[in-house]
Amino acid sequence: MSLDVLAQELQACQACPFRQEAIAPVGWFGDPASPIVFVGEGPGAVEDDFGCPLIGPSGQLLDKALWAAKMTRDRVLTTNVIKCRPKNNRTPDIAEAAFCAKRWLDRELAIIQPKVIVALGGVAMHYLGNPDMRITRDRGQWFRTEQGFDCIATYHPAYLLRLTGHALVTAKWDVFHDLEAARERAAMLAPGYEFMSPEKVDLFKIFKKRVHDYL
Ligand code: URA
Repeated sequence: MSLDVLAQELQACQACPFRQEAIAPVGWFGDPASPIVFVGEGPGAVEDDFGCPLIGPSGQLLDKALWAAKMTRDRVLTTNVIKCRPKNNRTPDIAEAAFCAKRWLDRELAIIQPKVIVALGGVAMHYLGNPDMRITRDRGQWFRTEQGFDCIATYHPAYLLRLTGHALVTAKWDVFHDLEAARERAAMLAPGYEFMSPEKVDLFKIFKKRVHDYL
């Protein structure tokens, strides 16, 4: 199966109640040939509006961090554990996350076969690693996912957006080092791959606002 076919199937998904609360599922963005995949938690309001993962405030911060670590959004692939925005941005529990990810994320990864995965935050780390992991303790350390992919977790950009002062500076450096470690490992395993375009990508030029189909 190709990613394009999977994307079409995803748009028709009605498997769980989150679908009723969202405009539509949000899939992935980037280069399917990328050796590095970033996995976030799930779409927020801006992602639901535009149908693009990590395009809102968290995504804008991620783009800055990627740029600092010599990557651009068109040269990597970004996706989420869950595909539909939970009402009021509620954090999905482990069972909800797994229910969606077994249907979609696992199949994406099986097609893409990334060399390296970066789990952004606790939800992605708990699904790709295990629920006993703690982001403050276990970020920055390599582990192997059940599907056999090398994965490193780092702080979710939304967490950075809530920090101030010294804690923010420290956490930003941690993220920078985690992203560098991920890029270096991916570059070693996929020699010659270009992780960075000359310019940052303006996702709002690519994605237009979606509307509820009942409007
Ligand atoms: N947070 C995420 O984890 N993913 C998104 O797509 C948006 C915000």
